[in-house]
Amino acid sequence: MWIPPMLTGTTFDLTLGEATKQLNDGDATPTYGYNGADFWGPTLRMNKGDIVTLNVTNDLMMDDTTAHWHGFHIPAASDGGPHQVIAPGATWSPSFEVMNRAATYWYHPHLHMMTMEQLVKGAGGFIIVDDDEEAALPLPRTYGVDDIPLMLTSRRFDSDNAFDMEGAYGDYLLANGTRDATVELPAQVVRLRILNAEVERNYNLGFADSRTFYVIATDGGLVNAPIPVTRLPMSVGERYEILVDLSGDEAGSTVALQSFNGGQTFGFPGGEPGTTGEFGSLLNDTTFDVLGVTVGAATDGAVMAVPASLANSVYWTASDATVNRTIAITDEGPGTPFTFDNATYDEQVINQTVNLGDTERWTIQNNRTFGHSFHVHDVQFNIVARSSTPIGDYERGWKDTVFVPLGESVSFVARFDDFASDTDPYMYHCHMSNHEDGGLMGQFLVK
Ligand code: C2O
Ligand code: CU
Repeated sequence: MWIPPMLTGTTFDLTLGEATKQLNDGDATPTYGYNGADFWGPTLRMNKGDIVTLNVTNDLMMDDTTAHWHGFHIPAASDGGPHQVIAPGATWSPSFEVMNRAATYWYHPHLHMMTMEQLVKGAGGFIIVDDDEEAALPLPRTYGVDDIPLMLTSRRFDSDNAFDMEGAYGDYLLANGTRDATVELPAQVVRLRILNAEVERNYNLGFADSRTFYVIATDGGLVNAPIPVTRLPMSVGERYEILVDLSGDEAGSTVALQSFNGGQTFGFPGGEPGTTGEFGSLLNDTTFDVLGVTVGAATDGAVMAVPASLANSVYWTASDATVNRTIAITDEGPGTPFTFDNATYDEQVINQTVNLGDTERWTIQNNRTFGHSFHVHDVQFNIVARSSTPIGDYERGWKDTVFVPLGESVSFVARFDDFASDTDPYMYHCHMSNHEDGGLMGQFLVK
């Protein structure tokens, strides 16, 4: 498996360009990558409290792009949403303080109606934020050795090996852009920083031997104590950091990380039966390999135990909220575009206005057609209610993206601090890029 190179410091230069990648026999696949990568881009590593400058150059021949810092708490004008367009040949250079907690974030294009195409071609990358709280813990943190970024997606190919741009689901898993990916991991406690970067598919991750592993971080930070799981659902845009204990595994032995996507209830993205067509896939409604692991020798200074405690976050609860806001996912029936509150995304329309400093409870209602992955910019939130399924133990932590199953309402609480503007909105949207491009996006001002 390819491990993205890592950039450090406080000035980061990114150039999005066209490339090709040999993913099949025969023709190479036209792709996008940053800084010469043939798919995806470098990992940006930054410290909480640093003032960083990101110089993003668009080296595409024809198309505009944007660069969004997913999960970051920054001014809307620096956010890289659909309003901060970078024309071909241009460079955009936002500068801001890193205020987020240590966790795994990511960057990706966010150009309205082009997000799916640019993501499918490979545009994106990880951002890892470090802070003192995380640095004081006995956690694996040797990048590419016992601390592995793992971006999961899948693609279908057309007859000349170009990426298919029609379907919701790929047929072939790509882990960091690598097909049939394998990795050698040392016989010790290993950290995986996992991102679901699919168009639409959910994962239900676990190891082939169903061993227990531990969630240590959600989208926006460490959880207070490791959460033991054997399966980990992940919808599009979500990140989880996990620890897996390989200290008892013999050198040379193998274990596969898999996704157990068979037998899901309707509305689970990627549970649909059928192998072809817009909503079919060779990976649907089945268990498939995500990453093959071969166990190697332990390293010097190996972490050999999962720590008992991690952080001391106090999460907002429903009673902290002074404003209740409800947003409904709507449509005109199967096959019609998804919308919020019956309105398709319009860059001229501000859909919500939040008062700076308010703590709000947002309830996302989804009672129509399919599951969705709801993401809001600017804030990290705490999930406080699900109407029909329990809140997962694994999702009790700082979140910016949440799965909203068919027929369910999900409530979360967030505080909208620090950044206000009368003109520059933040986005909220379904992170399934086909739904987002189709209009399932809205915008809000904090003022
Ligand atoms: Cu990952 Cu609005 O984006
Ligand atoms: Cu959706």
